[in-house]
Order: sequence, then structure tokens, then C-alpha cells
Amino acid sequence: MAGAVDAAPVPLPVAGDGRRRRGLRARLRSCAVPRRRERRSTGVRISLEGRTAVVTGGASNIGRAIATHLAQADATVVIVDRDREQAERTAALCGERTSVMTTDLSDLDQLDAAIAELKDEFEAVDILVNNVGWVNTLPYLDKDVEELMLEVRLNLVGPMLLTKGLVPGMAAQGWGRVVSVASEAGRAGQRGQVAYAAAKGGVLGMTRALSHEVGRHGVTVNAVSPAMTVPRSEDEIGSGSMQQSRKRPPDLMAKIIKSYPVGRVGTPEDIAAAVTFLCSEQAAFITGQTLPVNGGFVTT
Ligand SMILES: NC(=O)c1ccc[n+]([C@@H]2O[C@H](COP(=O)([O-])OP(=O)(O)OC[C@H]3O[C@@H](n4cnc5c(N)ncnc54)[C@H](O)[C@@H]3O)[C@@H](O)[C@H]2O)c1
Repeated sequence: MAGAVDAAPVPLPVAGDGRRRRGLRARLRSCAVPRRRERRSTGVRISLEGRTAVVTGGASNIGRAIATHLAQADATVVIVDRDREQAERTAALCGERTSVMTTDLSDLDQLDAAIAELKDEFEAVDILVNNVGWVNTLPYLDKDVEELMLEVRLNLVGPMLLTKGLVPGMAAQGWGRVVSVASEAGRAGQRGQVAYAAAKGGVLGMTRALSHEVGRHGVTVNAVSPAMTVPRSEDEIGSGSMQQSRKRPPDLMAKIIKSYPVGRVGTPEDIAAAVTFLCSEQAAFITGQTLPVNGGFVTT
């Protein structure tokens, strides 16, 4: 019976006379179109079974979508976030292989302790998603140094130290994925986001440079760069800072949406799909890259 399935003809569009159909069949065969069965075996379902993934800021919004997507791909997920309540809600959505580590990632001592605990707990963390982010949209010149440093600590220093802490384990086992969630503000710049953009731009530099050091050890390092991303429901919003930038009057929001070529702003699921792909086996030949997930808002 297997042979019969193999021999099944490729379905053809309805049109034309018999002569034309035969011609098309012949042409399809000569283009080496895979038979049905072979096509099925090249499916793109992403499996992260047996992989352990750490998602920072994974309690709500984009981080929640990333955590649930990775869990759906059968990864064991560790949510590192300071918001325990939201993190527990996300863990419940992800399933039983998910755990929560309550950590304030802006505090370098807590960050160090989290890295030590992760190394202790898991033989190797296979996937690190540097998703946590923080923005304060006051004009640059109105911010004090502590506010500027907070943005740099959460958006750049934290991802750098976590990456430095966890990549050696990935390299030692010959497989790993680092995916950082940057921002189009870091590529294109944006009013009120000077320190944030500087830090996100720094993450892109880290991504490019580190890929050269660890590629031969089976570790890829990439970034996704979202533009405005809004969850479908208020329930997805936790205690993060990015919601400030979502509180816009409807007429301004309508203008913003109009400026997106696809006619809408992003959703957390848009970002999570891109992150999950970059974590996959299928993305093994992609490293040092930034994937804009922006609905065409920035096209360079
Ligand atoms: N939402 C957007 O429009 C947008 C656009 C571009 C880039 N991004 C980036 O995407 C990522 C996720 O954004 P988001 O909109 O989901 O953010 P968010 O502010 O809604 O959520 C951030 C998460 O990080 C956690 N968090 C905040 N401070 C923390 C700390 N000190 N320690 C530990 N956890 C902390 C929060 O509890 C929350 O779960 C960020 O890196 C952000 O810069 C977002």
C-alpha cells in the first residue's frame, strides 16, 4: 500500500483538456516535485522536546506568548520574572514542565543568584530568550542617571550577563540558542527612548559579535526586533513598563495603525512565532542576525 500512496499523482489545477493535463504532469515530474509522502516528511513542525528554555520577563505579554509557544513545542520552560502572580498564571498555561523563578533582573546580585541556580538545577540550559525589557518614555534630558541606568541594566546588562553565564553550558554540549528581543527603537531610534534604544542597539551588537565566537560550538545567537506590539486582551498585560507606551488615545492609535503596511500593529504571538522558529533545529544555519517583526513598519 505504501507504494500506492507514493505513486499517487500530484493533484493538478482543474483546467484544460487531457493533452494539457498530461503536459503539466510531465512538467511537474521533470521539476522533481516531491511525491505526497515525501512532502509530508519534510514538514516544518517545530519540536523542542528535551530542550530546556529560560524566558526572562516571561510572566506576561510578549514573554507569556513566547513561554507558551515554546511549551507547545514541548520545551521545558523556566520563567524568570519578578511578578510571581503573573508568572504562575503563565506557567499554568504552559503545562506541567514549566517552572517559575522569581527574580528582579535589575538587581545584579539577584541576577547572579539566578544564573547560579539555573546552572545548578539544569545540566545545561539549551535555550535562552532574553525578553525582559524596560522603558521610561520621559525625554532623555529630563531623566536622572538612576532612571537611565535602570534601562541600561534591564535591557542590556542583564541579557549580557545571563548570556555569559549560560552560553558555556550550551557550547560544552554542542547545541544552544540565544534569542534576544530587541526593538525597532534600537534600529531606527525613537523620541523618548534614548537610553532604551542605546541598550537595545547594544543587544544587537552583542548578537552579531557573539555569533562569531560560539557558532562552531553549535550555538546560534539571534535577535528579533518588534515594532509596536499590543496584546489582544488586557489580561495579558502584567506589571511591566511597556504598557505605558500602549496608553494612547484611539485617534492616535488609528494613525499609528495606518502607518503599518500590513494594516495593524503586532501581537505577542507574532513575536513568539519568530522567536520559536529561531530556537528550532530548522534555524540552525541562521546566526548573528536580527529579524525585524514589524509589519513592514521599518523596511531596512
Ligand atoms: N510591546 C512593545 O510594543 C514592544 C516593542 C518593541 C520591543 N519590545 C520588547 O519586547 C520585550 C517584551 O516587551 P513587553 O511589551 O512584553 O513588556 P512588558 O513590560 O509588558 O512585560 C515585561 C515583563 O518583564 C517583567 N519585568 C519587568 N521588570 C522586571 C525586572 N526588573 N525583573 C524581572 N522581570 C521584570 C514584567 O513583570 C513583565 O512580565 C521587551 O524586551 C521589550 O523591550 C516590546
